[in-house]
Amino acid sequence: MTLAEKIGQMRQINASDGYPPDWLGDELRAGRVGSILNNVDVGMVNEMQRIAVEESRLGIPLLVGRDVIHGFKTVMPIPLGQAATWNPDLIRDGASVAAREAATTGVNWTFAPMIDISRDARWGRIAESLGEDAYLTSELGAAMVRGFQGDDLSESGTIAACAKHFAGYGAAESGRDYATTNIPENELRNVYLPPFQAAVDSGVSSFMTSFSDLDGVPATGNAFLLRQVLRDEWAFDGLVVSDWDSVRQLQIHGLTENDRESAFEAVTAGVDMEMHGDAYANHLESLIEDGRVDIATVDASVANILRIKFRLGLFENPFTDPDSLPPIGDPEALETAEQLALQSVVMLRNEGGALPLSAESMNSVAVIGPLADAPIEQLGTWIFDGDRELSITPMHAIHTLVGHDIDVRYLRAMETSRSHSTEAFDEAVEIASETDAVVLFLGEESILSGEAHSRADISLPGAQAELVRRVRATGKPVIAVILAGRPLTLTDIVDDVDAILFAWHPGTMGGSAIADILFGRQSPSGKLPATFPRMVGQIPIYYNQKNTGKPPSPDTVVHIDDIDAHAPQLSLGMTAFHLDAGYTPLFPFGFGLSYTRFEYRDIEIGSDEIRLGESLLVSAELANVGDVAADEIVQLYVRDLVGSVTRPVRELKGFRRVRLEPGESARIEFTLHTDDLAFVGRDMQRSAEPGEFHVWIGGSSEADLQANFRIVADD
Ligand code: NOJ
Repeated sequence: MTLAEKIGQMRQINASDGYPPDWLGDELRAGRVGSILNNVDVGMVNEMQRIAVEESRLGIPLLVGRDVIHGFKTVMPIPLGQAATWNPDLIRDGASVAAREAATTGVNWTFAPMIDISRDARWGRIAESLGEDAYLTSELGAAMVRGFQGDDLSESGTIAACAKHFAGYGAAESGRDYATTNIPENELRNVYLPPFQAAVDSGVSSFMTSFSDLDGVPATGNAFLLRQVLRDEWAFDGLVVSDWDSVRQLQIHGLTENDRESAFEAVTAGVDMEMHGDAYANHLESLIEDGRVDIATVDASVANILRIKFRLGLFENPFTDPDSLPPIGDPEALETAEQLALQSVVMLRNEGGALPLSAESMNSVAVIGPLADAPIEQLGTWIFDGDRELSITPMHAIHTLVGHDIDVRYLRAMETSRSHSTEAFDEAVEIASETDAVVLFLGEESILSGEAHSRADISLPGAQAELVRRVRATGKPVIAVILAGRPLTLTDIVDDVDAILFAWHPGTMGGSAIADILFGRQSPSGKLPATFPRMVGQIPIYYNQKNTGKPPSPDTVVHIDDIDAHAPQLSLGMTAFHLDAGYTPLFPFGFGLSYTRFEYRDIEIGSDEIRLGESLLVSAELANVGDVAADEIVQLYVRDLVGSVTRPVRELKGFRRVRLEPGESARIEFTLHTDDLAFVGRDMQRSAEPGEFHVWIGGSSEADLQANFRIVADD
């Protein structure tokens, strides 16, 4: 390869403008492009591949990239919603459907999964994440990689996955997208990096750098991340792509003076391919000629890129025949989307068994709200290719399910979720008064979450809370179904509704899933993958916080309204809480209600002492003591009481989705190896440390069925 051809492989061009314009055709012929993104017209993609393969000197096929984040034409729930299923196999299936639909267009590389730990619901991109927990994100992210890539990347219908954004992007200050991140190395290694290591272990083909500045060095120029951790420690052999123009943005960050220096920093740090930007194309050659960059650096990058092209089988099969793949939106795709939506819905409240509704014992239902019949809004962020025509809206599904038995009255009531007008609220109250129950479809439209769509106030926008209060005053049962891209602060409405189903942006089949749950065809079974704060000022709030030297307890909390006039300074509990919010969330991580009642009993532990390198069996009995069959997500948490660095008050170490019939019970077993208890200590090495541990099994991060054990040192 000539130097120009090598540098060509390191260049990714935006091809969204359609048929290769003359200039792009010429670049492809000259071997100056290694990858394109954002063209999903199979005819055009095949033509670009043809030029690359047949008309360039070396005939190297193209990587064709696209943001296939949670489905292609058939849209699955947003990733945060998928995370609420706690179901790796189903998530794998969703990614596999997305891959094969995308592959019909010639796309062979997705920029997913996004596995940034997100502890800040203001951040719009929490929607794309798998939540706040390193273990859950690791398990589910790896499942997505397996779904996209299949067992063999060269098979048709599989596409290369990309772990992004490496690393720490989710810790953006104040949840403002692209803002600076400051993460101490110990926290980086214990919290933010494990999902990426799990992605490497699952064979992910590529990594994308983060836009953000990590501890003073933007990720796109960060050799610690890209060389030391990714290549040296984890032995990753795939390719690293920059984020969109993030090489040139090194200058805007203030790390470099010009594009040439940006190209130098990025390539030296280990960015193999530049996404949409021309710093590499314009400057790598001269940087090599001047001896600033070693040709071996470029050779290694090109090898990383070609390796993925070989694994994809592109040299044998560069072209796409859409007819060789199942049709878009086939029954299997829709069924997978529906199952994901169904299992993602989290019931947050159900006072007096308000849900499920019974079509047999009612005459009418009111369906009110801006998100009841909004085919595009239920799809969520990143749905470039999503087909809104496929969307089954909740309104449509409720009609289909019960419309022949009861009267279904619909009112949008608000133009958008952000509307401030209360003009239609009188009519909403009238309809509510005339029906037996009201289902309010509230939340956020798609545009309020996702990239660059962060919010400082994460309560229900517009006049929605007012709508809730007005409808509440009718005295009718009020069910809130909330569609949103993030956890919301629901404090101001929670007591004004009888039940809450939190449905995220549930995707194409969201309506059917919601209708089935509302009318008791299925029990809700999702569990929160992120903590729901009471107030935005509690953020960051997450379950696996540190204990601090002054942990709060119910006894120490004082509410601002209860402080005596002239109270002495040291009289207020002196522990870590907010005077106006306490210290507990509105809904904890792992929480979610069911139509049945599950009881956890009799935790058993294989031994109360194990040695390093050994395993321990922990189990508990789970009983369905309610009236309906349902899934429960059994969760296992541990606490390492003393460490060389302080350890979280709880850490998720296992989970399992279990289905039980009424009256049925089962013993649920987990095996904990001491490696599962390892963490990065003060010396930045990962190991398990001897000492005392607590372990809990239960239905949320507040599980209270506890056992204890010790790891003893080898003598
Ligand atoms: C910018 C986003 O940060 C990234 O996640 C995405 O894959 C690229 N743009 C390409 O669209």
